[in-house]
Amino acid sequence: MSEKRLKIFVTRRWPEIAEDELRKHFDVTFNTNDSPLDKAALMDGFANHDIAAPTVSDVIDADIIAAGAAGRCRLIANYGVGVNHIDLAAAKAHSIPVSNTPGVLTDATADLTLTLMLMLCRRAGEGERELRAGEWSGWRPTHLVGKAMTGKRLGIIGMGRIGKAVARRAHFGFGLEVVFYNRSSVTGVDDIKAVQMASVNEVCAASDFISLHCAASPDTYQILDAEALAAMHEGAYVVNTARGDVVDEAALVVALNSGAIGGAGLDVYQGEPEINPAILAAPNTVLLPHLGSATIETRAAMGLKVVENARAFAVGRDLVDPMA
Ligand code: DGY
Repeated sequence: MSEKRLKIFVTRRWPEIAEDELRKHFDVTFNTNDSPLDKAALMDGFANHDIAAPTVSDVIDADIIAAGAAGRCRLIANYGVGVNHIDLAAAKAHSIPVSNTPGVLTDATADLTLTLMLMLCRRAGEGERELRAGEWSGWRPTHLVGKAMTGKRLGIIGMGRIGKAVARRAHFGFGLEVVFYNRSSVTGVDDIKAVQMASVNEVCAASDFISLHCAASPDTYQILDAEALAAMHEGAYVVNTARGDVVDEAALVVALNSGAIGGAGLDVYQGEPEINPAILAAPNTVLLPHLGSATIETRAAMGLKVVENARAFAVGRDLVDPMA
């Protein structure tokens, strides 16, 4: 079937190369000033386009999906791998398929996870803040002494693509042992001798770093809860590049403030971009603004994945990355 020229609604700006590719195949409405769209604008965009391409910063609830279904929306092609911001049940109820962009952001997100791990154990955030504040008084043997990363044990919660990429970097690059929790059994980790454990708490008790890589869903909501944090040993670190919802932030603040754990490196937050002030005030944290996939190569590839899915839809082929 030949490709129909459909109308597509893109909620945020993309890298130029991906926008150009999209324009070649579709009549595109871009959000030219790139400011977050309110619910009315999202409803309008969904209703008046064949395909909607939202991203993680848009909350696509049942009302927006219903407006799309009542109008001309026939596909939600999400720019991003995580789809917890989309009401998938509502999309299914209205028979609107959803696609995402898996695979292309694995390496970038794994790299950022290692960045946070290194920044935590080498106290890089503290050091930069001290220097910029004009408070560095010079080299001394006891100044901002951190811990070696080499030889520690990494505990991964969610051993999918990104979890495995983090495990491989940590094991082969820094000699970390890897243990993990995953709901189903996992293959392809024999070369790093990663050990699957029966519970999150067991992984927490065994690890020097806990890194979260599960998708956000009702099943994984606050999977790192107060009990799991209590199982961690003093000095161990939490790293979250997945979604804010997978960590009990209030319990994390208590663990940080009491010194029960060594620190936390966070790239994602409950209710972001608002940040709980208690997280900002907690000691031993490295806080980044959701940068996991933020390389030009990855952000372009994410856009091209949306184009691929939208084009498949336009000619009546199966979606490349169907979610629902
Ligand atoms: C995703 O794709 O889900 C990311 O969080 C955006 O970087």
